[in-house]
Amino acid sequence: TDFGTPASKSEKLVTLTIDGQSISVPEGTSIMRAAMEMGTKIPKLCATDMVDAFGSCRLCLVEIEGRPGTPASCTTPVSPGLNVKTQTPRLKQLRKGVMELYISDHPLDCLTCAANGDCELQDMAGAVGLREVRYGMDGANHFKPDSPLAMPKDESNPYFTYDPAKCIVCSRCVRACEEVQGTFALTIEGRGFDSRVSPGQHEAFLDSDCVSCGACVQACPTATLQEKSVIEIGQPEHSVVTTCAYCGVGCAFKAE
Ligand code: FES
Repeated sequence: TDFGTPASKSEKLVTLTIDGQSISVPEGTSIMRAAMEMGTKIPKLCATDMVDAFGSCRLCLVEIEGRPGTPASCTTPVSPGLNVKTQTPRLKQLRKGVMELYISDHPLDCLTCAANGDCELQDMAGAVGLREVRYGMDGANHFKPDSPLAMPKDESNPYFTYDPAKCIVCSRCVRACEEVQGTFALTIEGRGFDSRVSPGQHEAFLDSDCVSCGACVQACPTATLQEKSVIEIGQPEHSVVTTCAYCGVGCAFKAE
């Protein structure tokens, strides 16, 4: 189970109320994680317990009694006595609107997409009850020729592909590269509609500082970074069967 944000190491407990139910969790825990621990799934796209919360997708909004607005539950820590609501009609409507915007510039090729059935964007669209998109987009065909969304896939890395058209710019891959691998190969370039993950925008993955660890692929909630199921580089002198597609350490491989 992905709890949305990393576990707090604090030994001090904080008690709060979520959807009418009292829960005690370690100080520093996010509201999202506290809700998950009591079995309440708050829709999310950018949060994962692999990396620190970033609060970029705005899908995990909650209401907190006595506080204005609808803060992101992934970046809001628990505090004593909070009364949190995660499932009000207002929140459901807001989340549906956010998802509608994500889907409005996403290729509508789920049935032929490699991530079909294993895509968090698809799951979340279903979870918030999105049935139709009102903004007149029609998948890949609407992208402007000079848009990053119209860029071809980057197939340069032998282990994974990068498809900019499917990127929702959640930054998970960037943070996984930094926090899990300690490499700074990825960043977000551009602003607004034109913002995209780089490398991939101006440089091929294989020419970048990427060490092919696979952390970004594991973190990606869509089919933007997708593992290649068949790995072939030129004409090898021998083939290698490995349980790990990402690193060259060969901890579980069999050379043939
Ligand atoms: Fe909280 Fe994205 S999951 S803002």
